[in-house]
Amino acid sequence: MPLSVHPQPAPCGAIVQGIDLRRELAPDTVAAIRAAWLAHQVLAFPGQDLSLDDLERFAATIGPFGVDPYFGSVPGHAHIAQVRRDANETTAIFAETWHSDWSFLAHPPQATVLYGNVIPPTGGDTLFANQVAAWEALAPELQMLLRNRQGVHSARRGYARNGMYGERDTGRSMAIRYDDSALATQLHPIARVHPETGRTALFVSPGYTIGIEGMDDAQATHLLAQLFKHQVRDEFVYRHRWSAGMLVLWDNRCVIHAATGGYQGHTRLLHRITVAEAPVST
Ligand code: SIN
Repeated sequence: MPLSVHPQPAPCGAIVQGIDLRRELAPDTVAAIRAAWLAHQVLAFPGQDLSLDDLERFAATIGPFGVDPYFGSVPGHAHIAQVRRDANETTAIFAETWHSDWSFLAHPPQATVLYGNVIPPTGGDTLFANQVAAWEALAPELQMLLRNRQGVHSARRGYARNGMYGERDTGRSMAIRYDDSALATQLHPIARVHPETGRTALFVSPGYTIGIEGMDDAQATHLLAQLFKHQVRDEFVYRHRWSAGMLVLWDNRCVIHAATGGYQGHTRLLHRITVAEAPVST
């Protein structure tokens, strides 16, 4: 069956059918997946039955393995982390704050691959917000103000000792490791040009953006609060419903995402690989 791509009735996202990700993919199939991904930002492949080796092989078709600075990995699979919440767990939902994965790194990852193993009967959807659309909908004066500005990104709200997943976060089944390195900061353009599509995306998030370079804290906090509200307006958001055996691939360069709860009493288990940017050939 040929690969078919079905756009979601949403500002991003498409379902891909007619492909078995347990098999080695031919170069033209990889190219078709990449083209669909760049067009739709988030691709979901339902009805797969993948081993961790299959997951690694698929991720490697997108780009090199990235780093996961604050996750433990699955034994024998250094690049795979579990996104996990046990049925009886009472910890705060992991990743419920909007973010682009690891945007506080000097070289943030291009993509994330997430595979659903155990999916609760209700709840646990993932929200994605199209940040090209969010940028384009900003008033021209605001775009002008932001165009040459850099956002200050940091992992501190989540992964510092006193962060959300820091020393007070007990009873969590997911292997999250806080560290003082989370206090570091990194600058990235607020108006970020996508290296493959050339389209500008709004590249800030409440998870990881803590300031604006060269702007005093009060003004930056006010402006960021305005951007955080704007960037997740309903018209930019796609609510993704999972099923067991579904793989999702998203583009961290142009979407932000957030986990949701609503499945207390049920286990949720997914496996995740972070995909770095391919090195630029000279
Ligand atoms: C993540 O941000 O990696 C997790 C998303 C989710 O659990 O829905």
